[in-house]
Amino acid sequence: METKLLNTDDESLRLAGRLLREGKVVGIPTETVYGLGANALDTKAVGDIFKAKGRPQDNPLIVHISELSQLEGLVEEIPELAKKCAEQFWPGPLTMIFKKKPIIPDTTSGGLDTVGIRMPSNKYARKIISYAGVPIAAPSANLSGSPSPTTAMHVFKDMNGRVPAIVDGGMSAVGVESTVICFEGDSIRILRPGFISKEDLCEVTDNVLIDKGVLEQLSADAVVRSPGMKYKHYSPTADVTIIDADADKFRAYVSEHGDSETVCLVFSDSDCEGTSLRYINYGADSKQQAQKLFDALRQLDEIGAKKAYARCPEKTGVGLAVYNRLLRAAGFQVIKL
Ligand code: TXA
Ligand code: MG
Repeated sequence: METKLLNTDDESLRLAGRLLREGKVVGIPTETVYGLGANALDTKAVGDIFKAKGRPQDNPLIVHISELSQLEGLVEEIPELAKKCAEQFWPGPLTMIFKKKPIIPDTTSGGLDTVGIRMPSNKYARKIISYAGVPIAAPSANLSGSPSPTTAMHVFKDMNGRVPAIVDGGMSAVGVESTVICFEGDSIRILRPGFISKEDLCEVTDNVLIDKGVLEQLSADAVVRSPGMKYKHYSPTADVTIIDADADKFRAYVSEHGDSETVCLVFSDSDCEGTSLRYINYGADSKQQAQKLFDALRQLDEIGAKKAYARCPEKTGVGLAVYNRLLRAAGFQVIKL
């Protein structure tokens, strides 16, 4: 199959919408990462997403809407807290888990009786969804296990020949996937951290919990609330280790343990000063790190790194999302100095 790259003029967005309506899988830009979209209500189309990604069948997909009015038709009930979150954070990088209506096929929900819904803030994404005229199921548009794509070229690398079209909407503004939350009485539980941080959610309620799976490794047979958290994820070929240390200790550690096949992921050019090591600067603050992390992980493969040492991100605000993704890329290897 030939994969067409589409731009964001209205005609192209309408074409993307039509392909989706006809049951095709299309790569679409969102503010978080690129998604691999299909009609969320069409079992066959959704099945094709799983095939294109090589994704395990029990890992549910997020359903994307362009208007708040679409929500009611998809979910059994909308808790008060969810209404408040929608008011505060939609459109935007927040996915909320609801009890699903039967109209959502089991293939979309990975066999669960719940469904994650999000209204993206990216204007191209919302136009494509509204031209499609149906809710759009979309996981990140990477091959299962690889870093999520933040440019159309990343999607093209993974999906060339597997999908008929990819819409190029430029670099994703946020760079890490949406925050995934569920509701438990008057509490919010964060299943996956993202740009909407715990601190942001605390504006809606004081009771915000971070699920154990966010920072700990779960065994493959563990019963988890968010199936995606148990799979190997975001992994470059290089063996990644997080070094939790200040710049001086980081520099000392990597000069002692690094070699010509090592690449460092750093916050500043000075982090590797005086060493002969190659490095990728993935940003000085959490927002920049969120935007650049996945590209940096992909670059490790492109330059043939065998080993990577990454400076440890802040664990607050959007930094928690960066840390969560990097932890998985590192297979939970952290050295604290
Ligand atoms: O930002 C994003 O959320 C991107 C863009 C494309 O919107 N999408 C994305 O989808 O990251 P995906 O499939 O790569 O990740 C979805 C995550 C998985 O960890 C999945 O297990 C979890 O959300 N999830 C989806 N539905 C769920 C549900 N009903 N209950 C619990 N977790 C759910
Ligand atoms: Mg993903």
